[in-house]
Amino acid sequence: MTEQDFTADTSEVHHPAPALVAGLAHPDYLEQRSAALRDPVGFWRDRAVELLDWFEPFSQTLDASEAPFYKWFADGRTNICLNALDRHVAGARRDKVAFIWESEQGETQTWTFAELAADVNRFANVLKSLGVAKGDTVTIYMGRVMELIIAMLATTKLGAVHSVVYGGFSEQALASRIEDCQSKVLVTCDGAWLRGKTVDLKDIADAAMQRCPIVQSVVVCRRTGQNIGMEADRDHWWHDLMASSVASEDCPTEVMAAEDPLFILYTSGTTGRPKGVLHTHGGYQVQIATTLSYAFDLGNDDVWWCAADPGWITGHSYIVYGPLILGATSVVYEGAPGYPEPDRWWEIVDRYSVSILYTAPTAIRGLMRFGDEWPLRHRLDTLRLLGTVGEPINPEAWRWYHRVIGKGNCPVIDTWWQTETGGFMITPTPAVPLKPGSATLPFIGVLADVVDEDGNPCADNEEGSLVIKHPWPGMLRTVWGDPDRYVEQYWSEFSEQGWYFPGDSARRDPDGYIWVIGRMDDVIKVSGYRLGTAEIESALVSHEVVAEAAVIGLPDELRGNRISAHCILNDGVEPADDLADRLKRHVRAEVGPIAVPQEIHFTASLPKTRSGKIMRRLLKAQALGQPLGDTSTLED
Ligand code: WT7
Repeated sequence: MTEQDFTADTSEVHHPAPALVAGLAHPDYLEQRSAALRDPVGFWRDRAVELLDWFEPFSQTLDASEAPFYKWFADGRTNICLNALDRHVAGARRDKVAFIWESEQGETQTWTFAELAADVNRFANVLKSLGVAKGDTVTIYMGRVMELIIAMLATTKLGAVHSVVYGGFSEQALASRIEDCQSKVLVTCDGAWLRGKTVDLKDIADAAMQRCPIVQSVVVCRRTGQNIGMEADRDHWWHDLMASSVASEDCPTEVMAAEDPLFILYTSGTTGRPKGVLHTHGGYQVQIATTLSYAFDLGNDDVWWCAADPGWITGHSYIVYGPLILGATSVVYEGAPGYPEPDRWWEIVDRYSVSILYTAPTAIRGLMRFGDEWPLRHRLDTLRLLGTVGEPINPEAWRWYHRVIGKGNCPVIDTWWQTETGGFMITPTPAVPLKPGSATLPFIGVLADVVDEDGNPCADNEEGSLVIKHPWPGMLRTVWGDPDRYVEQYWSEFSEQGWYFPGDSARRDPDGYIWVIGRMDDVIKVSGYRLGTAEIESALVSHEVVAEAAVIGLPDELRGNRISAHCILNDGVEPADDLADRLKRHVRAEVGPIAVPQEIHFTASLPKTRSGKIMRRLLKAQALGQPLGDTSTLED
């Protein structure tokens, strides 16, 4: 499935201004990168020593003896909180602002490193009082509030493992994630603000806990003040526990082995069951600290704004852990882009003197639609770099971002990576010449290529599979509880060569620049969110009237892709006028608002192979009026 037309002009090159390059921490990036191609392991080893503190140093960088279960820095001892909090509190950044948080209603609150560390310690002690210990899992289901970040760090501090479930997911999605990692503790909010309305997080959590009665303690943070039920003995208010005697400000940081679990993050794959991607304490830190400092040149004076949600990998790596490790000041905005006013984001950039803004193509396209007058009302002169992530950026949106937001002076850093990779894998730095629509070159220390089915390198501009040919420190270690699925999903496509297959198709141009096209599997990117067709299909067939369902992604100007569903109804069911709406509401309740199909078609049959697999490719070609291609396996 290709999601982006290859309309981009591979010869449009934006060279970085020499004065800008001269001011970078790594002006000689391209030379360093060439040298590291010969010794990627040495590159990562040096960064692990240079950028991070360790409780105990490591002696071996990469252990490939049980590939593809690679280990990095395995005998090193660390805890990501050592680098994200402890060392700053003990040093010069103690009173530096770590986070500036702004609510949708416009209140501002700040946390210095010392204040943040104190809150983290207090909440870690709260978790401890609820029985959380090293190795336990804690599920976090909250809106975009600072308590979410505090809960993540507190879990980590104890050596427990967090599983953050995005606040836009509904009860079934939350229940299956709680069940998969067997969390006995859940941290949530009464509700979340979203475009002036509330999302009933606690009600949804209650419904999820009904479906899977594993959770023994719930901590509820008050955000909206709405009415909720509190179950005696199980549910506790955040503010009550934090004001109680258990919440002391002293809490030792658990000493962890580099390969000990840090967090699980569920993501969509080719089957209905979401995969728990596991990251660990050591390698993950090295990946995110290195990528952030090189690709975004993040320094002590920057004000960094990653406008994602902490509940996704972008937020884990580049709102929470990465900026803290580098000691940066970050902005977090609770609301959605363009809410309440189309220029709220631009106001925020000026108000806090944001120097680097990192967001997604879908947000850029949405803001672009309001017209240039909104950003033009603001200075935006503190910006020096811009970034994008989540899906291929169409060159038109790239140019608008560059010209109108960046005033032509800010390189656009287009970062390709995945939940599984932990951090950036293909990205420019400000020293790299840019081509709108290309994530440019594999990052230093990363060996990526575009190959055909047999693993031979594709010719220039020929479409093929993106592969990663060498392990990297931030790689996922396994699928939680399912090591076979880890091997099958990522390492079986090119098992002979031992390469990682991310599931994307791409082209490599004559300059070696990579142009990611889109997913090759049954994953659809809608507004940058990753959804499995199987998840949406199983939600549809769980409705009593639906016999079978097939879901495809179709190109959409704003969202990148939109979800189109084809349903066969049970015998005797007539597609009444409101049936499509009822099914949409059902998907919303089963998976969440992001998974709701934009269109639902009722049909008498679906194209299938003789072995019974739905040929979504044909549905897509038909919808787009394209030739059907090879139909030899079609049953009928
Ligand atoms: C998939 C991973 C990594 C953070 C957000 C998404 C697509 C991501 C780009 C980009 C083209 C991109 C790929 C990838 N993708 N960034 N810069 N250019 N495509 O993480 O939800 O795990 O999704 O997003 O298809 O496989 P994710």
